[in-house]
Amino acid sequence: MIYEILPARLRDLNTLKQLEDEVFKEDAWPVLDILAMLLTPGMINLKAVHSGEIIGFITVEEKLFDPEASVNSLGVKTSCRRQGVGRALMRAAEGHIKRKKIRLCVRHSNQAAIDLYFSLGFRKTEVRHNYYPDGEDAYVMRKIL
Ligand SMILES: CC(C)(COP(=O)(O)OP(=O)(O)OC[C@H]1O[C@@H](n2cnc3c(N)ncnc32)[C@H](O)[C@@H]1OP(=O)(O)O)[C@@H](O)C(=O)NCCC(=O)NCCS
Repeated sequence: MIYEILPARLRDLNTLKQLEDEVFKEDAWPVLDILAMLLTPGMINLKAVHSGEIIGFITVEEKLFDPEASVNSLGVKTSCRRQGVGRALMRAAEGHIKRKKIRLCVRHSNQAAIDLYFSLGFRKTEVRHNYYPDGEDAYVMRKIL
């Protein structure tokens, strides 16, 4: 599959919300949070585009007083998975990060994402208990860039 990784823009808001709903279901961000993400200076917002359609996205934040970059969201359309899009989005985002370390949280049960992050060099560094609204724990995973 041929796809491009491009900056996500304000005009992508509706499509990103639809994709967010498909990918994250009950954990999906509200549209206002996606809007804020697209408008906040310094956020790294990238989309994967195949035949004019957005099939994936990643959002990484570098907060002023946080020494680590943090991945806020990474998702790939269900029908386009296992074709390297998630890995390509993360690698592209890493190319924009100025911090020396990157961090993310992932559901304890999300083996696909954990395997992806391991394959990219992330390691589990701590557990956050009851992190998600349904009570599931999160692994915090980190990578030195
Ligand atoms: C996690 C997610 C982003 C992966 O995207 P993807 O485009 O399918 O991932 P890739 O094709 O780049 O996979 C890269 C590697 O990750 C691992 N991986 C990805 N999906 C996997 C799965 N379902 N089972 C096992 N390993 C998996 C494999 O090591 C894979 O390499 P391989 O295909 O050569 O074996 C995608 O499954 C997704 O959107 N899931 C729902 C949202 C989500 O959980 N986001 C992360 C929240 S922390």
